Amino acid sequence: MKIACVGAGPAGLYFAITMKLRDPAHEIDVFERNPPGVTFGWGVVFSDLTVDNITRNDPVSAKILTDEFAHWDDIDVHFKGETVTSGGHGFIGIGRKRLLEILQDRARGLGARLHFEAECDPADPKWRQYDLVIASDGINSRFRDAEAEAFGVDVDERRNKFVWLGTGKVFDAFTFAFEESEHGWIWAHAYRFAEDCSTFIVECSEATWKSFGFDRMDQSEAITVCEKLFVKYLGGHRLISNAAHLRGSAAWLNFRRIKCERWSSGNVILLGDAAHTAHFSIGSGTKLALEDAIKLADVLNRSGVSLQAALDEYQSERSLEVLKLQNSARNSTEWFETLERYTHFEPLQFAYSLLTRSQRISHENLRLRDREWLETVERWFWKRATEGRSNKTAPPMFAPFKLREMQVENRITVSPMAMYSAADGVPNDFHFVHYGERAIGGAGLLFTEMTCVSPEGRISPGCTGMWNADQLAAWKRIVDFVHANSKAKICLQLGHSGGKGSTKLGWEGNDVPLESGNWQVMSASDVPWSPINQVPKPMTRADMEAVREQFVTAVRMGLEAGFDMIELHAAHGYLLSSFITPLQNRRTDEYGGSLDNRLRYPLEVFAAMRAAWPSDRPMSIRISATDWAGEDGITPEESVLIGEAFAREGADLIDVSAGQTWAEQQPVYGRMFQTPFSDRIRNEGRLATMAVGNIYEPDHANSILAAGRADLVALARPHLVDPFWTIRAAAQLDYRDIAIPPQYLNGVAQLARNLKRDAEAAAAMRV
Ligand SMILES: Cc1cc2nc3c(=O)[nH]c(=O)nc-3n(C[C@H](O)[C@H](O)[C@H](O)COP(=O)(O)OP(=O)(O)OC[C@H]3O[C@@H](n4cnc5c(N)ncnc54)[C@H](O)[C@@H]3O)c2cc1C
Ligand SMILES: Cc1cc2nc3c(=O)[nH]c(=O)nc-3n(C[C@H](O)[C@H](O)[C@H](O)COP(=O)(O)O)c2cc1C
Repeated sequence: MKIACVGAGPAGLYFAITMKLRDPAHEIDVFERNPPGVTFGWGVVFSDLTVDNITRNDPVSAKILTDEFAHWDDIDVHFKGETVTSGGHGFIGIGRKRLLEILQDRARGLGARLHFEAECDPADPKWRQYDLVIASDGINSRFRDAEAEAFGVDVDERRNKFVWLGTGKVFDAFTFAFEESEHGWIWAHAYRFAEDCSTFIVECSEATWKSFGFDRMDQSEAITVCEKLFVKYLGGHRLISNAAHLRGSAAWLNFRRIKCERWSSGNVILLGDAAHTAHFSIGSGTKLALEDAIKLADVLNRSGVSLQAALDEYQSERSLEVLKLQNSARNSTEWFETLERYTHFEPLQFAYSLLTRSQRISHENLRLRDREWLETVERWFWKRATEGRSNKTAPPMFAPFKLREMQVENRITVSPMAMYSAADGVPNDFHFVHYGERAIGGAGLLFTEMTCVSPEGRISPGCTGMWNADQLAAWKRIVDFVHANSKAKICLQLGHSGGKGSTKLGWEGNDVPLESGNWQVMSASDVPWSPINQVPKPMTRADMEAVREQFVTAVRMGLEAGFDMIELHAAHGYLLSSFITPLQNRRTDEYGGSLDNRLRYPLEVFAAMRAAWPSDRPMSIRISATDWAGEDGITPEESVLIGEAFAREGADLIDVSAGQTWAEQQPVYGRMFQTPFSDRIRNEGRLATMAVGNIYEPDHANSILAAGRADLVALARPHLVDPFWTIRAAAQLDYRDIAIPPQYLNGVAQLARNLKRDAEAAAAMRV
């Protein structure tokens, strides 16, 4: 094949090498606008896995590269005058210029023709002479943009400003240096890539950048300012730029995240940064470019495969890999963009948060990398959790937590889950066994299902209630059992179904109206949940007062039943949630319109409940932090305001759920998918939060807690299949100090032994 590669970056050069290795008969021209030896940027980092891939593909270039790689293990985080060092991270770095020299030599040696100072124009007719044109022309690809529609290009320009500099200072560790200035936070990502040189990327928010006046400075002035800011890290060395003399490069940039729906059009194929970008903070662009090149060369040289089939395979396999990295990169990018959320942390937790920011590295990964450091974090966590009384080295999920005078034994909670199994709102033997078993299963705190304050406030005829003496007695029996047989605390979740009421039992059809016996439902406005649901009656002021008093009565009964805590359910589209979300609240009175107005009634109910509940016992509020409806619904910014408003009325914990507030929601599911909302409310609002939503591994819980993304972790569905989730986690993590029903001690000891033996066998296999 006759092939043109536009751009002699890692993608174009490595593709030329790989094609020539597969078949020397290919004719390959590589065009580069810059002279040889002139390039932007400084060093790039790789992981060990990338080295394995390139060694398998071309041992010759891999040998030269690996001989010249700089290796290091430690990460230093400089923050608020302290340096936190953790080890075992295993990076490899090389200068970009040297990397390109090695690839150029190898490509030339294999017979590719390299043309420098050759600016390529997509409109040039010469491209028609080629079978394939490889657009390896980088992040600002002209070849991609010339056919932006055909490629389905999606560009997301990120908020922060950065500049890619170099320095003669040799950093022994991968260094993150955070400095607080009168203009805001500014920080550097620095790492050595040669004997005498390091990369030094400076980053800050746009506001800080403008406040410094960087927008009005030329490059040398900006460098002088950065040298002063980071003087204590540079040890007398200068910062250097290599962007000034380059075509197509600017000094300060906003990172552009590129995604393309299609990676080929006609005879043009996108490769490397032209097709996709991740983010420099996870250092994987070069790796992706090299791996793209290997895959594309593989499929193009496979006999008996049509060009279209080859390109389809190239895109489908590579785009999956890219998507994984782009997800991690998004988390990492956002962490730096919202840095100020975390600057109230102590240095150790700040460093932990930084290391786990992309969610690719978890608590247990950190233990494998540097056990000693992780144990320092665990001790710090326990010390804080016990106000200095404990020096325990143990997983964060087992640390106690105090809300007013209620202390929970550990941070795991059984999330509220409707069982749809009551008659006339009265909990029965099913509920007794269900809650009893979960209480002895080890969780520190147990929530009841949404217990309704009136018959009309039920979701279904099977919901539990708290409006009469029979219900109170049945609940008291459960609460007494929990207190007598476990260390768990139990929280009564109170709610009113609003417009989502009068529907079938959960498993007979979610939100589907009853076949018969429907009751009139009410809501903030006359907006039906869906076309098949009733049009609710908008609440009058008299209705509001009546319902508020029902909540207060239920709180008093909850106290009589002996509950430790009360939660008000103001999430998931039920009555109070219908006031908060603009998608359901269309009122024009003082209860509709602005967020303050929409919160007025839910806050009134909460305040009345709080007044009826003893001041030494805590209360929480469950909210939907987003409607999953973009700007039309509750925004993440508003969720912080909502949390703050309830906290002002005496809420001690914000139980951060999301969605289910309108039928057309577009949720983005995944592991721990709602935790970012808890993180934001906790750290921007400085409130205690509980995270929930697809958290299922002990490792998830520990990572969330140690990184300060929540104070408690709730699991719902995992507890349906395993009431003993917490005790099982303790056995798995070899944590002994947990209350186990004496009747079950033997079984737990056996489980712990078996799990330990299995873990040792798995570790031996890895060695
Ligand atoms: C600040 C920063 C730090 C980074 N750190 C790392 C890291 O540590 N590790 C890592 O793996 N990656 C890192 N990257 C990403 C990495 O630089 C890119 O992902 C990688 O270079 C992509 O390779 P490429 O060949 O696709 O594109 P590029 O390396 O951008 O190469 C494209 C080439 O095409 C040339 N070109 C463009 N247009 C034309 C034209 N019209 N005619 C002729 N030639 C043209 C350009 O001059 C350039 O040489 C970082 C990126 C940034 C911005
Ligand atoms: C069967 C079932 C019933 C639920 N009932 C309630 C409820 O009564 N009140 C409530 O606030 N959330 C309820 N939820 C939501 C859960 O508390 C939790 O927020 C959600 O399931 C996500 O957590 P998970 O991924 O751990 O299951 C229910 C969830 C399930 C699966």
